[in-house]
Amino acid sequence: MSTQPLEDTFSIREMKRCDIEALLAFEIENREWFESHIEARAAAFYSLQGVGSHIDEYLCAMAAGTWHPFVIEDHSARIVGRANLKNINTAPNTAEVGYRVARNAGGQGLATLALRHLIQQARERWRLTQLIAFVYTANVGSAKVLDRCGFSLAASDESPSCGERRFIRSL
Ligand SMILES: CC(C)(COP(=O)(O)OP(=O)(O)OC[C@H]1O[C@@H](n2cnc3c(N)ncnc32)[C@H](O)[C@@H]1OP(=O)(O)O)[C@@H](O)C(=O)NCCC(=O)NCCS
Repeated sequence: MSTQPLEDTFSIREMKRCDIEALLAFEIENREWFESHIEARAAAFYSLQGVGSHIDEYLCAMAAGTWHPFVIEDHSARIVGRANLKNINTAPNTAEVGYRVARNAGGQGLATLALRHLIQQARERWRLTQLIAFVYTANVGSAKVLDRCGFSLAASDESPSCGERRFIRSL
């Protein structure tokens, strides 16, 4: 494996309207992989129109201050991952985190890099005090990423659905 720092090979930036084609390619290529770990998207999502609407929705939510969407790109501007601050709520100063990494880009620290970026943005841009993550019990890789980034299993069990666990991190 390369000894170059990940940041030299990959970059994380805000999602843009012009990401439609690259995002669609990323989501189609990894559809089966993602569906084996997280909730499946509607079939209509997998089209230029579907991804266009999805991006519009996310960018509107970003303008409204409730969502902060990012993509991870490799050196050839190919999208290899995504990470989001979701449901940003400035009354209790909390947000949820979400991330996904292409199967063939996994295991080299990209989700960890992306989650660290979300933590930094949550602190510095949004002044949040707590982050929350919901993870299926079987998703050992994601739980490892959360643990490495300072999240811990919530003491109270207010998990929204069976088989999911809630992790929190104070900022
Ligand atoms: C989970 C996911 C985000 C991890 O992305 P990633 O870039 O591979 O993550 P990282 O490389 O930063 O770290 C993953 C760690 O988990 C480990 N891991 C992955 N799968 C594992 C498994 N089944 N059992 C044990 N460890 C596992 C990796 O070895 C790595 O640890 P290491 O660095 O000590 O070797 C990625 O697999 C993914 O997108 N999965 C589908 C979508 C998803 O689950 N999103 C999260 C929803 S909560």
